Parts: sequence; C-alpha cells; structure tokens
Amino acid sequence: MKKVPVEWTDEMSVGVDIIDKDHQKLFSLFKQLRSLNEEGNQSEAITKVLTELYEYTDYHFKREEAVMEVCSYPHLNRHRQVHTAFAAGVKRFLDAAAGGADEFMVNSLSEFLEDWLKEHIMGMDKDYETWTVGKNNEINEVNLDFEASRK
Ligand SMILES: [Fe+2]
Repeated sequence: MKKVPVEWTDEMSVGVDIIDKDHQKLFSLFKQLRSLNEEGNQSEAITKVLTELYEYTDYHFKREEAVMEVCSYPHLNRHRQVHTAFAAGVKRFLDAAAGGADEFMVNSLSEFLEDWLKEHIMGMDKDYETWTVGKNNEINEVNLDFEASRK
C-alpha cells in the first residue's frame, strides 16, 4: 500500500471555514483508521471509527449541499449524486467490516478514501468556491438552520 500523508493541507481549502473544518475531521477519522490498521487486530475499533466516518460523511454532505444551495451553485444536482455514490461506497465497507475488518479490507478502504477525499475536494468541492464569495451571512444562516435541524 502506498504510504502518502493523509493530512488536510491549506491548498485543499474551499474558502468556507465550516466546510474546511468538516474536511479536516474526515481526514482525521481516516488517519485513525489507518493507524488502527497498522496496529493489527483492531477489527472492533476499526468498525467503530468507520461507523463514525460514515455518519460524519452524511452529516457533512448535507451541510455542504445546503451551502451550495444557498449560494445558488448551478451544479448542485451533479454534486449531490456524487455524494450519494460515495456514501454508498463507505456503507459497503461498513457492511463488509461487520464480518471482521481484515487488513486487506482496510487497505482497500484506505485507497478508496484517499483517492476520493483528495480528488473530490480538489476538484468538485473547489469548483463551488467562487460561488461562495461574499455570501458569508447567507452561509452562516443556513449553517445555523442546518445544525439546529440535526439536534
Ligand atoms: Fe463535496
């Protein structure tokens, strides 16, 4: 397995603080998964982190979609479809982990996450950045509504 760093870096910023923080959180869960895998025999802990990753992904996607919507981002539907496909991919790994998270499975999961996180953030997420410029108030408001709706 290629061992490249799994850090969120400044160049991944999409210019919206709350979204950058979500992305950092996803990276940190990913990092936890990777180190648990290196420790070995951590199937239960891996399933726990993977569950958290799945749930946080869903939470983050909904927040991001709300932000894109309030910024009138024109490619929201396409972006939403990609989110749905990714969440389904994570779910497949989660289901597989129920039968025991072996090293092979976590390695494939790591590759899937790494390619996806980096490419998606650097490509599709960065694409909405220009639409968010000057929309701080709208974004903050929609985020407060979003957070209130998830309580
Ligand atoms: Fe996205």
